[in-house]
Amino acid sequence: MFKLRVEGTKPVQRAIKVLFNVYIILSTIYTSNYIYHMYTNNNGLISIKSRNEPMAEILYAKWGQDRLSWDSNSGVYDSMTEEFFLSKAFSEAMQPSHVIPYYFRADNPPDEEDITITTLITSNRFPIFDKLVTNYQGPISVTIHVSDDEETREELLKSLNDLYNGNPYMKKYVDVHLVVDRFERQFNMWRNVAKFFARTNYIMMLDVDFHPCTNFRQKILRSPRIMKMLRSGNTALVIPAFEYADLTEGLNHSTFPTTKKDALELVDSKRLVMFHASWKPGHGSSNYAAWHDTNVLYKVTQYHYQYEPYVIFPKHSVWCDERFVGYGANKAACLFELYLSGVDYWVLPEDFLIHQTHEYLESARKHERVFNRRLYDHFREEMCFRYARSFILNNEWDTPKSKNLKDACHKIRGFTQAIKFFRESVS
Ligand SMILES: *[C@@H]1O[C@H](CO)[C@@H](O)[C@H](O)[C@H]1NC(C)=O
Repeated sequence: MFKLRVEGTKPVQRAIKVLFNVYIILSTIYTSNYIYHMYTNNNGLISIKSRNEPMAEILYAKWGQDRLSWDSNSGVYDSMTEEFFLSKAFSEAMQPSHVIPYYFRADNPPDEEDITITTLITSNRFPIFDKLVTNYQGPISVTIHVSDDEETREELLKSLNDLYNGNPYMKKYVDVHLVVDRFERQFNMWRNVAKFFARTNYIMMLDVDFHPCTNFRQKILRSPRIMKMLRSGNTALVIPAFEYADLTEGLNHSTFPTTKKDALELVDSKRLVMFHASWKPGHGSSNYAAWHDTNVLYKVTQYHYQYEPYVIFPKHSVWCDERFVGYGANKAACLFELYLSGVDYWVLPEDFLIHQTHEYLESARKHERVFNRRLYDHFREEMCFRYARSFILNNEWDTPKSKNLKDACHKIRGFTQAIKFFRESVS
């Protein structure tokens, strides 16, 4: 029986052998071609293709299938799809969420030692974003959320296309990244996307309604002292934010002051006030009285966990916690973790931002704030323990790096005991 079967399958075996050889040859050709392309496109770096065609469509069948690869000493390349890679990069966000990097990509790669504004916009903010781009004339990395239903998607992409092609500074400076999903207001994930794909060493996390009144970018880049602080990784630069007491004055940015001297006149006559003055912790730590009277860079000494200034800091730094979805605490949580990680806030004495008046969605805000307040209380404890432990294990506990943490966390119940335990367990 056994023998017969073998005899009987001989022609089949031969056919299989031939097919197998053909397969080997084809796959060798395919693989070497593939590796060749990987090698020539990559220079060993992760390569994500630019997608600058006008009106590029989102075709799900194709999107995210580019491959990222890693080489090794033996010439073997490991690879994975972009989609898989990004699903881990933003795994704390609500899923499924499709990130499409460089939907539009600026033609000129910026200098690494530059400052990219990272921001988030929805389609109703396109006009104000257009103004920001013209005004800043420096690198910008923007995340745009696209609701995942066909009708609004097409409409948004069309107006985005008009926006991008309607202003020559867009092509020169702006990288646009899309987040396509059904979740509104995943602010911290959107922030991370804009930061992840920023192409400079430093970023400024800015809300799009704020008008940069002065050219802080050039001032910073030309100051060896400030650049040294930024490079050291322990500095975030604060640009104080103001708003007009009479909101109608905040409508037209061409009427805004452009020098500190002019701003101070408006401040002294109470026409210009601290942004969201009714919510003191938000910006109070910047110490507006000190700003008023000085022309030297000064350190924030009264940090508060609800502090949420607009800051310039290294791209290589902590990420915003993506569990914060919706209004309330999201930016404060980013900046709290940044502070805990050993970054000090320093206020630029001659520069300022002014908020441009617009309408708010108040109803959604209230509910989300309640949830996020609770999340933030837990988050702060979690971060205190996590960073304390990491500093101790990395022998950084007795260095200046842990100073902010000691200051912000010492009041947490059980903290002192936990620190004692962590320290004993390493000694
Ligand atoms: C904004 O202000 C400038 C300068 O005063 C003026 O020329 C311009 O017409 C104003 N724009 C609008 C939309 O009011």
